[in-house]
Amino acid sequence: MMRRLENKIALITGGTTGIGLATAKRFAEEGAQVIVTGRNPATLELARRELNGRVQVLESDAADERQVAELFESVGRKHGRLDVLFLNAGIAKFAPLAEAPLSDFDAMWHLNVRGPWLALKHALPILTEGAAVIVNTSVVNQKGMAGTTAYAATKAALRVIVRAAAAELAGRKVRVNAISPGPIETPIFEKTGLSAQEREAFRKDVAARVPLGRFGQRSRALSGQGIGRRAAAADPAKQVVPEGSADVSHGGRASASIRRRTSPPARRCAAG
Ligand SMILES: NC(=O)c1ccc[n+]([C@@H]2O[C@H](COP(=O)([O-])OP(=O)(O)OC[C@H]3O[C@@H](n4cnc5c(N)ncnc54)[C@H](OP(=O)(O)O)[C@@H]3O)[C@@H](O)[C@H]2O)c1
Repeated sequence: MMRRLENKIALITGGTTGIGLATAKRFAEEGAQVIVTGRNPATLELARRELNGRVQVLESDAADERQVAELFESVGRKHGRLDVLFLNAGIAKFAPLAEAPLSDFDAMWHLNVRGPWLALKHALPILTEGAAVIVNTSVVNQKGMAGTTAYAATKAALRVIVRAAAAELAGRKVRVNAISPGPIETPIFEKTGLSAQEREAFRKDVAARVPLGRFGQRSRALSGQGIGRRAAAADPAKQVVPEGSADVSHGGRASASIRRRTSPPARRCAAG
């Protein structure tokens, strides 16, 4: 294992499960002092046990401005700087447009867009010259997938924030990049609001459109062109689409089970 992050201070939002947790382990192995955040007391506790002191695990709601501000102030007090910021906390709620609740739309925009924007804003005072900011968007910021209108819109908005922030922070030599994974096997799919049967159908549909015929693995998403390399050194404002990415082109077969739910029954004309 290369130790590309020796002596770096790295913070990962949403680092208690899934991609964030795998990244925390990898960053620590590469020599960084790592801080992860989460909100759910149960997953915070599990992460503390699993990371066993190698990584600092903090409770902080990524969508709450006061908590976000306090988080970066406390990192500043303890470490005096931040070299790597991985903005990863996010949620996904999938449903056909006709059934999608507005509350899910709002919750996703609150966390997936407002959260990283707030984090960038409050991290600024402690980001070092040459710091790496990596923002976890999704392949759906480019590819149409039925059932993901609201989720995909949050990830596309995030992609735009990355471009603008990269331009704005270039003068400070802070690199801001997006990573846009395809489907990666993580707990996020249990929280999408899809039934077990719909999840299975979704998995099969999506896997059928991935060249390797399967979901990506968390550890592989971090290697190669992935998050680790972005953290160590990279060009500004690039989007990386790592292993596991799906060709879920507009109108394709992906998530057919959701599309079936999407179509409302044909409206009947009242008989004359
Ligand atoms: N898995 C995929 O196929 C895939 C593909 C493309 C992009 N992504 C993106 O990758 C990121 C991570 O997803 P994942 O698949 O690893 O899902 P995950 O296992 O559900 O991880 C989500 C993480 O975000 C945290 N989180 C949720 N709400 C939070 C809040 N309000 N404040 C702080 N932390 C919060 C969770 O902690 P708690 O347990 O405390 O909620 C957890 O640590 C997301 O942004 C997702 O959109 C995932």
